[in-house]
Amino acid sequence: MECAAGDVTAYITSRGLDPAKMPAHVAIIMDGNGRWATSRGKNRLLGHTQGYHTLKQIVYESNRLGLSCLTVYAFSTENWRRSGDEVGGLMTLMLEAMRAEIEELIQTGIRVRVSGRLAELPQDLREELQAAHHRTQHLPGLIFNLAINYGGRAEVVDAVTAICRKVAEGKLTENDVNEDLIHAHLYSPDLPDPDLLIRTAGELRLSNFLLWETAYSEIYVTPVCWPDFDPDTLVLAISDFQRRTRKFGTVVEEALS
Ligand code: IPE
Ligand code: IPE
Ligand code: MG
Repeated sequence: MECAAGDVTAYITSRGLDPAKMPAHVAIIMDGNGRWATSRGKNRLLGHTQGYHTLKQIVYESNRLGLSCLTVYAFSTENWRRSGDEVGGLMTLMLEAMRAEIEELIQTGIRVRVSGRLAELPQDLREELQAAHHRTQHLPGLIFNLAINYGGRAEVVDAVTAICRKVAEGKLTENDVNEDLIHAHLYSPDLPDPDLLIRTAGELRLSNFLLWETAYSEIYVTPVCWPDFDPDTLVLAISDFQRRTRKFGTVVEEALS
C-alpha cells in the first residue's frame, strides 16, 4: 500500500531531489515507440510493447516519489489515422496490459483514471478501463490517469457542449461562464493542472495534449525515445523542474549567479 510520508521523503532525498519542490502532477507525452522499433528493423508494435514495460516502471517510480498524479498520453484522437494493424494492436495491447496489471496496481494502492472519449473505444477495452477505475477509486496512492482517445480540442468541445446544454435547460446563464466553469466541465476537474510536462523523442509540440491544463506547466523535452525512458530519466526531468523559476505572469526576483 502507500508508503508512510517519512518513507516517501527519504526516498525522494535518496534520489537527489528536494522534497519541498516536488511537482504534484506530472504529464507525459510518451512518444518515439515507432522510431525506437524501426531503427532496430522491428515492427512498430514491438515499440509499443516495449513502451508498456517502460510505463510500468514509471508508474511505480511516480508512486514511490509521492506524486499525486501521473497523466500519460496513450492514444490521441488523431491516432485513429494510423494503419488498422497499428490501431488494432494498440487497442489489444491496452486491454491486455490493463488485465495483466490491475491486481498489482490495486496492491500498490494506485488509482486508475481515464481521460478521453471512451464511448468511441472498443467495448471490451472501455469496460476494462471503467472496471479498473471503479476498483481503485478508494485507494490512497498515485492517481494514474490514462489519456486514451484523448484530444485537447475534443475536451474543450465536450466541456462547451455540456455547458450549452445546461444553459438551454436554464441551469446556467451566459454570465456564469468563466475559467472556473470551463475547468469544472473538463474530463478530470478534480486534478491539479500538470506542474511538469515531459515529452520524449524530441518533438517540440503538444500534439493536442492537455491544451487547457498546460497553460503554466513547465515543459521538459528529452531526445530519449519512450522505450528507453526509465526512472532515472524521470528523476532528471524532475531535478530540472526543481531548478525552474515559475512566475505565473508576476515578477519574481531571481538570484544572479
Ligand atoms: C507514441 O509513439 C505512441 C503512440 C502515439 C500511440 P509513436 O508511435 O508516435 O512513435 P513515433 O513518433 O512514430 O516514433
Ligand atoms: C502524440 O504523439 C500522441 C501520443 C503520444 C499518444 P504522436 O506521435 O501522435 O504526435 P505527432 O503526430 O508526432 O504530433
Ligand atoms: Mg509519435
